[in-house]
Amino acid sequence: MNEIVTLDEFIIKRQKDFQYATGELTGLLRDIGVAAKIINREVNKAGLLNILGAAKVENASGDVVQKLDIYANEKLISCLQNSGECCGIASEENEDFIKVDGIDGQNGKYVVVFDPLDGSSNIDVNVSVGTIFGIYRRKSDKKGDVQLNDFLQKGSDLVAAGYVLYGTSTLLVYSTGNGVNGFTLDPTIGEFCLSHKNIQIPKRGNYYSVNQGYYLKFDVEMRRYIDYCCDMNLRLRYIGSMASDIHRILFQGGIFLYPNTRKYPQGKLRLLYECNPLSFIVEQAGGKAMNCKLNRILDIPTEHLHQRTTIAIGSPDMVDEMKSFVERYTMPPISKAEENAAI
Ligand code: AHG
Ligand code: MN
Ligand code: MN
Repeated sequence: MNEIVTLDEFIIKRQKDFQYATGELTGLLRDIGVAAKIINREVNKAGLLNILGAAKVENASGDVVQKLDIYANEKLISCLQNSGECCGIASEENEDFIKVDGIDGQNGKYVVVFDPLDGSSNIDVNVSVGTIFGIYRRKSDKKGDVQLNDFLQKGSDLVAAGYVLYGTSTLLVYSTGNGVNGFTLDPTIGEFCLSHKNIQIPKRGNYYSVNQGYYLKFDVEMRRYIDYCCDMNLRLRYIGSMASDIHRILFQGGIFLYPNTRKYPQGKLRLLYECNPLSFIVEQAGGKAMNCKLNRILDIPTEHLHQRTTIAIGSPDMVDEMKSFVERYTMPPISKAEENAAI
């Protein structure tokens, strides 16, 4: 029989290989693993919760069943707050960051950022959702309170990142900058067990993933690239949960795109909570991630907590191909002379 390695055992074993080896980072990853198990339990009975919710509304008890993304947010925050291993939290669901008090007056040296439930519109129809997280080392003095600048770091400063997928099985994938590993939740023992060692993304794949309904809203260079994907008979898969779409691409190869549209001129997805952690994972697995202006996602300066970005991410050869379409088909800006001639 193969040896079973649980997430906790793996994290502890890896702690000594890690250049900043401290119990704090190990503890943080474990806290996230615990929150993921609690969220998983609720996700699995989401349909049931709706039934109970309806009954409660009728008996006028005043209890309102929380939307699952609020529930996931609260569980993650409370798991991280209780352990006191980080000094601050920023979540897609909260406008501002949250300060966390250390235990025995000792402030933690990490901050955690997350999208507690990614693709939450999938919940009501039993389709997979995820949790995405990133961990940064704080920059401000450990003696004082956590500062906004502790969160406004580039993706390349991430110390660890990962995601949890609540799908046909529940999987936690993470990296501390030394490869990517995946753990499947064994519900019979309630533990995440190592199931996918040293994940490597294929150089190219047969899938492209984009909301093709917005095709006419994309810039011409992106439309040309999508036309090319169609010409190449690539298969279109789009779940509406970035974590789930990236998960397929990580294992089977492909490209995920969320370009700018008229509604979202800067792109829709959040740099801090979605794009940076997933780009960190994809790069660690040998892939690439850039915005539609061809800047590496992990190098984009973070100016505010809820900053959005466009993104093209996935198999390295496919991202390079997308890049060549952008270089070839981007319209040059209209010059003053052309503008005047048009009047
Ligand atoms: P969230 O549920 O955290 O708001 O994220 C949803 C995101 C992302 O996961 C997904 O790829 C995208 O929004 C879907 O957006 P469209 O419906 O515009 O395609
Ligand atoms: Mn999301
Ligand atoms: Mn979300």
